[in-house]
Amino acid sequence: MAESFDMIAKTFFGLEGTLAEELLSLGAQNVQLGRRMVSFRGDMRLMMWANICCRTAVRILKPIATFSADDERALYRGIGLIDWLEHLDAERSLAIDPVVHGPVFSNSLYAAQLAKDAVVDQIRDRTGRRPSVDLVDPDLRINLHIDQNRVTVYLDSSGESLHKRGYRAATGEAPINEVLAAGILRLTEWDENSPLVDFMCGSGTFLIEAALMARRIAPGLARKHFGYERWKDFDRRAHESLVAEARQQVRSKLAFPIRGSDLDPQVIAAARENGRRAGVADDVQFGVESFEVALPPAADGVLVTNPPYDERMKTSRIESVYRRIGDALKHNWAGYTAFIFTGNLNAGKQIGLRSSAKTRLFNGPIECRLLKFALFALMPRDATESHGRRAVVKKKHEGRGQEQADAFRNRLARMAKHWHRWARRQGITCYRIYDRDAPEIPLAIDWYEGRVAIIEYDRPHNRTDIEHRAWLDRMVELVSNTLSVRREHVTLKTKGTGVFSGKDSRPLFVQEAGLRYHAHLAAKETGLAVDQRILRALLRAEATDKRFLNLFARTGTHTVAAAAGGTGSTISVEASPNLADWAKKNLRLNRLPMAQHQVICQDPLVYSGNLDPAAGPQFDLAFVEPPSFDGKRRDDVWNVQDGHVELLNRLVACLSVGGKIYFVSRFRRLTFHADQIRGASVREITRQTVPPDFRNKKVHRSWVLIRTPTDQPG
Ligand SMILES: C[S@@+](CC[C@H](N)C(=O)[O-])C[C@H]1O[C@@H](n2cnc3c(N)ncnc32)[C@H](O)[C@@H]1O
Repeated sequence: MAESFDMIAKTFFGLEGTLAEELLSLGAQNVQLGRRMVSFRGDMRLMMWANICCRTAVRILKPIATFSADDERALYRGIGLIDWLEHLDAERSLAIDPVVHGPVFSNSLYAAQLAKDAVVDQIRDRTGRRPSVDLVDPDLRINLHIDQNRVTVYLDSSGESLHKRGYRAATGEAPINEVLAAGILRLTEWDENSPLVDFMCGSGTFLIEAALMARRIAPGLARKHFGYERWKDFDRRAHESLVAEARQQVRSKLAFPIRGSDLDPQVIAAARENGRRAGVADDVQFGVESFEVALPPAADGVLVTNPPYDERMKTSRIESVYRRIGDALKHNWAGYTAFIFTGNLNAGKQIGLRSSAKTRLFNGPIECRLLKFALFALMPRDATESHGRRAVVKKKHEGRGQEQADAFRNRLARMAKHWHRWARRQGITCYRIYDRDAPEIPLAIDWYEGRVAIIEYDRPHNRTDIEHRAWLDRMVELVSNTLSVRREHVTLKTKGTGVFSGKDSRPLFVQEAGLRYHAHLAAKETGLAVDQRILRALLRAEATDKRFLNLFARTGTHTVAAAAGGTGSTISVEASPNLADWAKKNLRLNRLPMAQHQVICQDPLVYSGNLDPAAGPQFDLAFVEPPSFDGKRRDDVWNVQDGHVELLNRLVACLSVGGKIYFVSRFRRLTFHADQIRGASVREITRQTVPPDFRNKKVHRSWVLIRTPTDQPG
């Protein structure tokens, strides 16, 4: 009879009972539950069989030594007492996975290092050669478990974690671990013989695991290898006969539907590919649709899903998504038992249905719940009725979005007509045609001579990320159709995420008041801030024979305008080499002599800090637009609120009497300390400089400072 030994199988918190049942069904003896693990007894054959068949084990470990160690030397000595040549040749590689509890060894990596030294030193002393360390794909994976002063050394018979079934080629955003998915399916008590649905299925893990279970396909069959295959006592014939036995158990074709859907077409493509690789492509049907329109494939069955529970999602948004899930369950899934797996315990309460069971689980460090909802059928449904309902549900769902889209289309068409006509009369070719006019469509839409830049502003909404992406796509499509602009000429910039879509990367030359500018709609700065049209005109009108300074010059459009007004000379100071180059290109494009127009690539604060008031007036006209900060202030970074007074006092001191500084900020909550500016009269002129096409009358704020003859500047 083959020799029996003790082993442990590791798993997720909450799945210990499920794993114990699995091990018992595989023939394990002396099965006992622990925390995140189950201990059991069996022989080598059982160890291999458990690796091939266990769906809810993460790894199977075989203990080879236990001893006490109160300090590092005792640990090194204890490991050194194991006969390592029995397990590992000197030419082979090893890795040590440490798990350390208690204060005796506080640093698990150090404990692993010591253990590794003990193994390597022993083999080198005995053979003159030393095994190497390979953390990724070692020949022998050793698990070092230290609880207080109790040390147990295991050989890891699985090698790579058993959740790596070998079928996952592609994933969605947050795929659930395969072992956890299989365990959850077991907890649902799904009978492996009735309809199963996941209406937010992502890369399809629940459904692929379910199909594997129902068809009795052992999870290890698609795996390339297990750790024990490189053990010195590996019995290849026994392993091959077990694999053959597992293959024989596979059942053909399922007689009931397993169905998954998700709104994201990319994750559905990934799910299909995973299903194909797992050998269950014909058993699971995947489709792209919102959970709100998904309907049951049969009168009763089980629905299991894990909705998004991303910590980044705002509470109000996630709660509203869960409320909508509750509504969908109530209205469309009567007759089903639904299981929602979530790591957001509060959001789970928003489902608004009484859960008949709650199971506590952990997904890594995240505490989760598996919520069960029995959705009682009011009356039996037949297939034709379900077909009819699908049309009704879809229509209702699409109807809601359609109403909003129609309202936006009409409004946009109206606004575009109005502003196009206005712009034609004014001879303006770049302007805003929509400025967050409807609060539920928080977009700004700028027209650049037949091309369009859409800017999305942050506003609370109740969409999941993928719903929001789909919504933005729909808006872009709608803008393109309504304004009759080809889709590739519409660029979308999202403020919150900074993600850009629409790669209109072709060079674009636009004009304003007879001057030409390089624009780039897909870049962070388009190159021509259309809200500053009036400011540029003011500078141009006042520039004759002036010495002009443009501090924080960006793409130099204000310099070009001033230069066109006949400045004597200009200096543009910009920290970004890219933008400084862009400014030079704009000057050249307008054939302005570079000898007169200097572009300095330097931190404008350093530049202004080096200006010497004692050297007398150096400028007659200046344009200053420091960057605004987004929300968080940092003590170590200059910000316009704390820094504007000092900056402006320095500039005023270098300004000729009667000279002007136009100061602009996009920080709308700026408290401008006019009373602290010395030697200049100050006036806010925001109302005069924000053009009429901007509904947001504080898109920028502006002040003019005029150097007074009498006061002594600071
Ligand atoms: C946590 S993931 C699910 C991961 C999945 N269990 C897996 O193993 O890959 C949540 C999924 O919900 C999807 N989703 C978000 N909003 C949706 C909607 N309205 N309808 C359907 N699916 C949606 C997302 O695309 C994402 O794939």
